[in-house]
Amino acid sequence: MRSETAPAIRLEDYQPPAYRIDKVHLTVQLDPLETIVKAVLSIVMQPDTAVGTPLVLDGDELTLISARLDGEDLSVSRYEAAPDRFEFFEPPSGPFELSLTTRINPQSNTKLMGLYRSSGTFCTQCEAEGFRRITYFLDRPDVLAVYTTRIEASKADCPVLLANGNLAETGDIEKTGRHFAVWHDPHPKPAYLFALVAGHLAQVPDSFTTASGKAVQLNIYVEHGNEHLCDWAMDSLKRSMRWDEEVFGREYDLDVFNIVAVSDFNMGAMENKGLNIFNDKYVLADPETATDQDYANIEAVIAHEYFHNWTGNRITCRDWFQLCLKEGLTVFRDQEFTSDMRSRPVKRITDVRLLKSHQFPEDAGPLAHPVRPRLYHEINNFYTATVYEKGAEVVRMLKTVVGETGFREGLDLYFDRHDGDATTIEAFLACFEDAAKVDLNQFSLWYEQAGTPLVSVKTRHDPKSQTFSVSLSQEVPPVPGQKSSKPALIPLRFGLIGADGEDIEAISDNGVEIVGDVMLLDKARQEVVFSGLASPPTLSLLRGFSAPVRLSQQQREEDLRFLAAHDNDPFNRWQAVQTLCMQELLRLTGCIRKQETAETSDAVVEVFGSVLRDQNIDAALKSLALTLPSEADIAQEIGKNVDPDAIHSARLLLRKAIAFHHRTELLKAMKDVASTGAYSPDATSAGNRSLANRALHYYAVSGADDAAQLVWEQFTAANNMTDRLACLTLLVHDHLAHGDEALKAYQARHEKSSLAMDKWLMVQATAPGPETLEKVRRLKSDAQLYDVTNPNRVRALLQSFATGNPTQFARTDGAGFELIAESVLEIDKRNPQVASRLLTSFRSWRALDSHRSTLAESALLKISSCEELSRDSRDIIDRTLQ
Ligand code: TRP
Ligand code: ZN
Repeated sequence: MRSETAPAIRLEDYQPPAYRIDKVHLTVQLDPLETIVKAVLSIVMQPDTAVGTPLVLDGDELTLISARLDGEDLSVSRYEAAPDRFEFFEPPSGPFELSLTTRINPQSNTKLMGLYRSSGTFCTQCEAEGFRRITYFLDRPDVLAVYTTRIEASKADCPVLLANGNLAETGDIEKTGRHFAVWHDPHPKPAYLFALVAGHLAQVPDSFTTASGKAVQLNIYVEHGNEHLCDWAMDSLKRSMRWDEEVFGREYDLDVFNIVAVSDFNMGAMENKGLNIFNDKYVLADPETATDQDYANIEAVIAHEYFHNWTGNRITCRDWFQLCLKEGLTVFRDQEFTSDMRSRPVKRITDVRLLKSHQFPEDAGPLAHPVRPRLYHEINNFYTATVYEKGAEVVRMLKTVVGETGFREGLDLYFDRHDGDATTIEAFLACFEDAAKVDLNQFSLWYEQAGTPLVSVKTRHDPKSQTFSVSLSQEVPPVPGQKSSKPALIPLRFGLIGADGEDIEAISDNGVEIVGDVMLLDKARQEVVFSGLASPPTLSLLRGFSAPVRLSQQQREEDLRFLAAHDNDPFNRWQAVQTLCMQELLRLTGCIRKQETAETSDAVVEVFGSVLRDQNIDAALKSLALTLPSEADIAQEIGKNVDPDAIHSARLLLRKAIAFHHRTELLKAMKDVASTGAYSPDATSAGNRSLANRALHYYAVSGADDAAQLVWEQFTAANNMTDRLACLTLLVHDHLAHGDEALKAYQARHEKSSLAMDKWLMVQATAPGPETLEKVRRLKSDAQLYDVTNPNRVRALLQSFATGNPTQFARTDGAGFELIAESVLEIDKRNPQVASRLLTSFRSWRALDSHRSTLAESALLKISSCEELSRDSRDIIDRTLQ
């Protein structure tokens, strides 16, 4: 017998709540094993609710101690309480006050949802449905209440007591060794934004003055001893606050903004009103333990959570189907912030790489779903790349379609019209329709349809009529459970480039609407004809990746090389190099699979020479242009009957050829950008390090006599984590001399920093080569180095093995799949969210060759046959196997 699939929740079944809860007064008496939560709820029946309609509150593993109505004990015949439900049979038709006291055990809460402990600190996570693990409630985002929270705790164990909003009162509870704090949040909010923290924490204070002159106190709370690691996070916060005022006109709205870093956290961070709680890896940084990538992530996540204050908190979601309303928009906002803080083209390329490597495979596999799903079994499984990243792409397209001004006016209208609401995608789009006077009916399909559209392009030049025609068609490949798709509105930014490399202004008259440099595809097939072109231009299509689509375009190698050298659009210059590489990698993979001799193309290798020599692009961009598509990218492009070993060999072959041909230039590139002086995390310095390490990545396999030695020397000489980790990765992944020694040296140096040790685990888990599996097993059973109860450790060792080591995860003896299947079952018992996330690493199993996919299927069936699978994992396994 297997556990049952939870019932489906459907968008079309949405009903407004029968009761409102306007005010919540919580008293939380903290104790590790027996915390008492007293909730006083001010409840009103909604106007169109029939008198006598029962009030059904959500619960999850709760024990009821007492229930009172308007100050009197509630007779046991009037209600029924279970761990997951409180039903009040015939509530009064007028306003009433329901007081419910429950008991919970934070210490034994291993799901890290609700109230739990992380290194002794009490903390909460309520999104999406964690509040019901604290007290009985209408735990849905369209029930907005004003919260007052009184926390009581031991003064010695919990000197710091925090909750949402502003601090109202503090004091001692006489003769008990306990004290209390009362926090009041004047902004009505859904329960998922509730938060409470109590513990022995160090406070890093600062302040910010808003545009209108209001002083806001800022604090970051961390474990004692980590105070010196908060500077970058604090700086990022202040820049985020300023930027949101300047770019979106949004000011902060409380007297205090608190951030707490905890080490046990299921996701990145959480935007609780006035009290953001973070995974410590997105707060703590210094040059010794954090890479440039970590600094960039911290800046982006701090900004993301802060921006939620308006897009998510002031305006929230009506129901969880609308999740992209806050997440897509907030990701778009944090991407814009990073673009303004750093380099816009570099940010765009980085984001598109992430989209293609995470969201495209999701959209092409069994877990595909629309940006706004219509059905779910477990909402935790919908915090996906599709909702977040594709959701942000849809907002970006919206901006392209309605224009810069229309977008700003539409958003202003949204903030104005919906402040204080729990609303929908329809209401959001209506603001842009009203402000920009456009019809977004067809555009809204982006929220409804899953699958990545494939846009096919054919061009033809006719010298006689001096015309250049571009025929375009769009189609969405079949998606499980989705009937045929309708043509979407696809904004394609483009340019026609003349022989001199400059964009040509060409006239077109025909079926496709062109606004500025954007064609708006809106039909299954269309043709654009440009006139007045005596010689054929080179078409640069999908500039800036203006839509989340795949392009199928027969591009000649010489055109790609021309674009790589001349396109005015930096994104498409990068894309041209990628396309050249991808074509070459596909060819080489094919040769290897057919056991033919695989020889690399001189032309492709030479493109790298031109990129290396190019004086007109900055170091960060150059580094990106010199990065080959990943093994996962190549697998995705191949799409079926995938052999990860062949892909790995092909990629290594091309990398070595590039390295061998350009070794002198690589050394020169390294010298040109070699850092002098102290480490600084700014974008330019980070770009230089990125290029130097990219060059070293090639040089290491160039066959030069001094290659391995150079990497080892740079490892020992490194004065920052970025360089040290880059060298360590090369030493271990390319099996260079001193690899083991380097691992030992790194361990000795960073033993005390678990975040630094996560990188150490990750380097080993992602090393290609058959010995890795045993190593991962050994590390997994080493209690000093690994801890299943901590999600960061699980992600560093197991998630990175499953998603970042294609040849070893998909080993032909099945041992890689078995390791992950076994781990999923083990983790699922404690923490379903972490387990189900790990399980999604199987999502592309059907694309593997038949031997490997059979092995994957039997690992999946083994998981599926487990009797006590969580709802989270059951949902993923059912869909993965369907
Ligand atoms: N809303 C959070 C964000 O995007 C992420 C989040 C959702 C989350 N569910 C969570 C974080 C559960 C921790 C645990 O920023
Ligand atoms: Zn978010």
